[in-house]
Amino acid sequence: MINLKYENGKLTILDQTLLPNEEKWVNINTKEQAYDAIKKLMVRGAPAIGVFAAYAMAVFASGNDIYDLKAYLDSSRPTAVNLSWATDRMVNAYKAGRNLVDEARSIQDEDIEMCRKISEYGLSLLKDGDGILTHCNAGELAASRYGTGLGPLLLGKEKGYNFRVYSDETRPLLQGARLTSYELEKAGVDVTLICDNMAGQVMKEGLIDAVLVGCDRVAANGDAANKIGTSSVAVLAKHYRIPFYVLGPYSTVDFTCKTGDDIKIEMRDADEIKEMYYEKPTALKQTKCLNYAFDVTDNSLITAIITDKGIVTPPYDKNLKEILK
Ligand code: MRU
Repeated sequence: MINLKYENGKLTILDQTLLPNEEKWVNINTKEQAYDAIKKLMVRGAPAIGVFAAYAMAVFASGNDIYDLKAYLDSSRPTAVNLSWATDRMVNAYKAGRNLVDEARSIQDEDIEMCRKISEYGLSLLKDGDGILTHCNAGELAASRYGTGLGPLLLGKEKGYNFRVYSDETRPLLQGARLTSYELEKAGVDVTLICDNMAGQVMKEGLIDAVLVGCDRVAANGDAANKIGTSSVAVLAKHYRIPFYVLGPYSTVDFTCKTGDDIKIEMRDADEIKEMYYEKPTALKQTKCLNYAFDVTDNSLITAIITDKGIVTPPYDKNLKEILK
């Protein structure tokens, strides 16, 4: 796997905070290190944190109460549904007396299968040569293979498509610059890095045929929580009449959230805005910052939600359920 390895009881992750400058694999020896790895985004992306937490539960179950362990890992990041979805599965496997490593492997294998289906459905909406805008990183680093938002582009590359990808750098933690451009370069996909505030300009110039983004939690009415800044891109896409696609596993739909207002948005340390990834601080220490990790894109701005069960179009409150029939 590109982002984590499990071998003989040892869990190791590629530290994504160091990319693209250093490819360093880090051992996870304690549950506290597992918590920190998620919290500090050493492992990140909704499906990847679910898979990682599943392995962490398998490794650290002995000597820990399984329910406490689940609650502890779940508290590391609140927005992406995949985390608690995967730890729920591990608790159920434990209650049923199943082998926990096997269960974590199944979650990982299913993730590959889900991402493959999402990628196939997504690719069916694109044409060779299309210009695609993406925000944050929803590729292989964020999942087990292909990814969600980048899945159609990586699968398309394998099938001989040539896309022109524009990657928002995605302030403040620069997942688009550090991770998306790194992984698309490695895959041989044509990628151009742009600042977040350039999206309107490239759309106006006619360079963008579709926007593809991954998602962290989708409410029953189709409102979708994605990386902070995604909703502004969606507003621009609507203005320029460019299709805006949200891609994620069906398990990302949380029917307990009626609308996006019910989705808990992660708030992160303000110093990430001022002090990370720049040689010198970019603002005074005393300057107040708001550092939301995600925002909610209103369902009216979303052309389709692409899941492993199929492509869902509005009205989402009806069609997110209908797709299962
Ligand atoms: O904060 P991050 O880097 O974990 O955010 C990741 C994203 O925003 C992705 O869009 C999301 O998790 C979808 S995953 C493939």
